[in-house]
Amino acid sequence: MINFVAIVYQKIAKPIFFKFDAEDVHIFMLNLGEAMGNIAPVRLLTSMLFANKPPILSQKVAGLNFKSPLGLAAGFDYEAKLPRFLPSLGFGFTTIGTITNHSYQGNPKPRLGRLPKSKSLLVNKGFKNPGATTIIKKIATIHTSIPFGISIGQTNNGSLETISDAIADIVSTFKHFESKPLPHTHYELNISCPNLHTHLDFYQPKNSTKLLVEIQKLKLSRPVFIKLPIVLTDSEFSALLRAISPFKCVTGIIVGNLQTNRHHPTIDQQEVARFSRGNFSGLPTQARSLELISLAYKQYDNRFIIIGCGGVFSATDAYNKIAAGASLIQLITGLIYQGPQLVSQINHDLPKILHHHGFSRIADAVGSAN
Ligand SMILES: Cc1cc2nc3c(=O)[nH]c(=O)nc-3n(C[C@H](O)[C@H](O)[C@H](O)COP(=O)(O)O)c2cc1C
Repeated sequence: MINFVAIVYQKIAKPIFFKFDAEDVHIFMLNLGEAMGNIAPVRLLTSMLFANKPPILSQKVAGLNFKSPLGLAAGFDYEAKLPRFLPSLGFGFTTIGTITNHSYQGNPKPRLGRLPKSKSLLVNKGFKNPGATTIIKKIATIHTSIPFGISIGQTNNGSLETISDAIADIVSTFKHFESKPLPHTHYELNISCPNLHTHLDFYQPKNSTKLLVEIQKLKLSRPVFIKLPIVLTDSEFSALLRAISPFKCVTGIIVGNLQTNRHHPTIDQQEVARFSRGNFSGLPTQARSLELISLAYKQYDNRFIIIGCGGVFSATDAYNKIAAGASLIQLITGLIYQGPQLVSQINHDLPKILHHHGFSRIADAVGSAN
């Protein structure tokens, strides 16, 4: 059945979707996913087809139970529409956001584009989102069987001028989400969005330290994962890890965000010429994300739980990230190019790869390639 859905998606649905504006299709999919999630028989039927989660994939990470290591990355569900439906597709966790203190209508269009030859999406949203207050009301009513995180970043509406402003803004958003009993299970702190107006930069260790000093003071009730850039050199990335590691409030890192290099060898130059602004997901992120997962695992061993993100299109791609040091995996672009069955397909194929390498539990494979 999974293979049948893959063929229908590749041959019929995707060619139709790709005729329409990418952002319009995205919004349509979010609304469809929300509607399907609200109908119990639809959830049940979808689960029967897709929600295979073999026990070998189960693990407890950061005190949370994950039946599958695969989660939706930040940026797809910025209005909290999907947590109810995603377990039926086989997802083990999901992310809402990135959410900011104040709402933002998004950067000027085009905010989203397709580069099929490069297996990539152009992203120029700049944290389009309805703001913390609206999302808090929405998530108060969410019921889902999987862990879900809130990704928090700095407001991008032009109101922030200094690093201190950005820190106050981010801290205020965390306080909002902590101020009520809400069902989210963890946070992402996104310091790596390359599509912002402000150039208030937390890549510099002195700035990330200042931010984390304030976040540590909040004594947050849930684990925090920091979403890191993949566009730093090895030594810049190590310096950032060194700055982050003393802070107990940081449970883990997500490696990582978008590719900013338009001339990256995986990017087809004719495709990219259609877009003047924005950054790149999918294949252009894959190799560097893998290198940096490995670097972080080797340098810090068990200090950070690592979530691997960037260019996962298959069970082999997911396994490579796990063997490099990732306990969990996030994805977006693979779903767009491979189809909505991808997570179920990986849940089905990954156990075979684990067995082949002699592992009977996913947790034993983490970091095994180093
Ligand atoms: C449409 C889109 C929007 C995104 N928005 C965000 C965002 O708001 N916050 C964030 O941390 N990452 C964002 N990202 C980056 C993804 O979370 C992820 O790091 C990146 O796309 C690499 O994963 P992928 O190759 O599986 O897509 C976005 C990516 C896409 C494709």
